[in-house]
Amino acid sequence: MQQGFVLWFTGLSASGKTTLAKSVEAELLARGLPYIQRLDGDVVRQDLTRDLGFSKEDRDENIRRVTFVAELLSKNGVATTCSFISPYRKARANARTRCHNFIEVYTYCPLETLIERDPKGLYAKALAGEITGFTGIDDPYEEPENPDIIAHTGKETVAESTELILHYLEQQGLIPPARRSVKAAQALRGEAG
Ligand code: ADX
Repeated sequence: MQQGFVLWFTGLSASGKTTLAKSVEAELLARGLPYIQRLDGDVVRQDLTRDLGFSKEDRDENIRRVTFVAELLSKNGVATTCSFISPYRKARANARTRCHNFIEVYTYCPLETLIERDPKGLYAKALAGEITGFTGIDDPYEEPENPDIIAHTGKETVAESTELILHYLEQQGLIPPARRSVKAAQALRGEAG
């Protein structure tokens, strides 16, 4: 029987939440997990929360609705990934109490790197004052105090961060162990190859 869980990716815009969620999802599929669902800010905001903006109240409401969905999914055995900036600690703490097997993944990347990369051009707009209330520029991001996993997306490759997360899931007994080469196993344990 598959166990439900929620991998909750939190971090600044363009810090790699969606990329990592997609990569982990692909690996879970490859391992034969039958029930998987990805919930993504940019997608959810076009439908379930399309009436919401980016004030604190609206962001909290966005996360409240997503938490409701993630709770239902995780309690019914679905491997769920959520990728939302989710800048407020209290909203994330609420998600943790409600979801089954909640795992907080902080996608950390220095702001300077995000500004340099700026794939959607939003940081440039925020810095120019064309967008106001942009997380990390003129709107708060409350860093996780005790995340279950930190993905250092400024320096790790997508494959490395994905491996870290899968290894964590394995250790928690939430997914079956994968067969690995000795070298890969040593690298995961931080041993010299
Ligand atoms: S959250 O704060 O409510 O969790 P969510 O993850 O759903 O945010 O949406 C964030 C995405 O909306 C960003 O990646 C970006 O593309 C877009 N966006 C538009 N305006 C803002 C803003 N003011 N602050 C942050 N992201 C914004």
